[in-house]
Parts: sequence; C-alpha cells; structure tokens
Amino acid sequence: MKIFIDTAITEEIKEGAKLGILKGVTTNPSLLAKSGRTLDDVITEILSLVDGPISAEVTEADEETMYKQAHDIVKMAKNDNITIKLPMTEDGIAVCSRLSKEGIKTNVTLIFSVSQALLAMEAGATFISPFMGRVDDYYHDDDSGFELIRKIMEVKKNFGYESEIIAASIRNVKHVEQAALAGADIATIPYKVIKEMYKNELTTRGLQIFRDAAK
Ligand code: E4P
Repeated sequence: MKIFIDTAITEEIKEGAKLGILKGVTTNPSLLAKSGRTLDDVITEILSLVDGPISAEVTEADEETMYKQAHDIVKMAKNDNITIKLPMTEDGIAVCSRLSKEGIKTNVTLIFSVSQALLAMEAGATFISPFMGRVDDYYHDDDSGFELIRKIMEVKKNFGYESEIIAASIRNVKHVEQAALAGADIATIPYKVIKEMYKNELTTRGLQIFRDAAK
C-alpha cells in the first residue's frame, strides 16, 4: 500500500519526505486554511518537494466554473503530478469525466458509499477517496470505514476499474492497518499518525534490553 501524506503544511511534508516513504500528497480547503497560505503558494512548494501525485481541491460548485478552476490549477502548477480533487456531486462527476478524457489526473473526494465509488470509477477518476474516519464517527463504530474500503476494493476487482483507491480521513494507526487489510491501493495519512506508526511498546522494551546487553 502506498503512503501519501494528508497535509498542506510544508514542514510536515519535508519531514515526511526525509523518511523516504512518501509517494504523494493530498490537501483540501480545511488543511489549506490551517496552513494559512494560498493554494498556488502551497501547491508550488509541495510540487518541488515530492515527486508524486499532489491533490489540489477545487472550491467551485457548478460544472463550468469548476472545470475552469481545474484548468487554472493545472496551468498554475505546470507539472504532470498535479491532481485535481473534485467533490462527489453530479457536477464533480461531470468534470471528472471531462478531465479524464483530457488526460488530467483526478481525485474524487467525499466518497461514503459503494454507489458513489462506482460513479467515480465509471467517470475515469485516477483516484477516489473514501473517508474512513468520518464514516466511523457517523456510525459510532470502528469498522464501518474498513467495510467501506473492503467493498469498494471488491467492486474495483469485479470490473477491473483502474482508479486507485485512497483510504482517506485516517485518524489513527488502526485505520492505516484496516486500510492495508482491506487492500486499499493508497492511504493518505496525517503526519502525526505516520509518526505513531513507528511506535510499539515491545520495540521500545526490546531495544532497551539489547542496549543494556551491549554495555
Ligand atoms: C483527504 O483527501 C481528505 O480530504 C482528508 O483525509 C479528510 O480528513 P478529515 O476527515 O480528517 O477531514
């Protein structure tokens, strides 16, 4: 499973890039607002830091203005890795179909059901982003997100869709493990969760034992 980082804070991306495990970056308007920077400014810097798909989300709602905004982002980025993140709406899917035919990378976001995933895959989305954490929050459990990814992967396999499935809205290490077990192609993970993935109490104890022995 490929690892993307889910942030618009470039310091986190630099730290993540040093680890040598990052294959891409996803941003959204909330993450951008947290960074306090403009989309153009942040995306230009991220494209210089990571050689992989970088998702930048449109904010317009209707098809024509969304399509124009998508092209403005592509023009600004001047880089094939730029990926246009589109909302899971009728207009978003229409724009996805148009951009896919033009060879522009797309990521359909805010996917919460198999039907929505099916539409996005039919529209030729390069990536689709089912939200694990928000599904679990909504149903007050810890396996709805896992089931969502598992079912979408099954549909993808049944029909041979080429869209890559990004497990998104990851809140903790368990979500990462569930995404991997469900066969997600990619997990987009917040920096603090990536740091947590290194940790295990038995590793800490084992290291101490070996260090003591080495003395
Ligand atoms: C990524 O593409 C999504 O925008 C992101 O993972 C959403 O996460 P959240 O539910 O924590 O806002």
